[in-house]
Amino acid sequence: MKRKTLVKIHVIATIVAMLTISTFFALSLAAELRGDPDLIKTVKRGILYALPLLIIAMPTLAITGNQLARNSKNPKVIEKKLRMKFVMINGIVLISLVVFLYYQSHFKVINTTFLIAQIAEFIFGLGNLTLIGLSARTGLMLSDKLRSEKNT
Ligand code: HEM
Repeated sequence: MKRKTLVKIHVIATIVAMLTISTFFALSLAAELRGDPDLIKTVKRGILYALPLLIIAMPTLAITGNQLARNSKNPKVIEKKLRMKFVMINGIVLISLVVFLYYQSHFKVINTTFLIAQIAEFIFGLGNLTLIGLSARTGLMLSDKLRSEKNT
């Protein structure tokens, strides 16, 4: 695959990952603040249905990133590879929480356990948004650097 295409897919996956996590966060927060169980259930169902977007975006970021990086020993690339591991672990926790919160709200009750899991989801969501944001920033710095290296 052409480098240009790889970068395009890499950027689309970045946008999808950031948009899904921040939308999940905003909708969950709005529903919690309203405190309406029906709204909470609807939001949790919507998030579960949108989850495949995140499940596709995460590995896409890792695969395209590794293809772009090849055998680079650039410290920024190594930093991104390391950060990606945390993004993946964090992402797996987030996915588990999404499924748990859906299950709890639809088949159990919205109780303290639900609230604790919801707070954990907020924390992991913010954590992953930060890590993804940092990787996007490093990526942009890297692109400029690679471009200027190509031009010299
Ligand atoms: C959360 C994960 C990641 C995000 C959000 C992310 C985001 C980005 C962004 C926004 C760019 C700039 C693209 C442009 O030119 O417009 C970029 C470039 C790049 N990323 Fe990532 N990235 C991630 C993971 C990775 C990983 C795991 C690697 C592998 C080491 C990687 C390697 C690269 C490389 C080498 C470039 C420069 C591409 C070029 O312009 O030639 N990225 N990344």
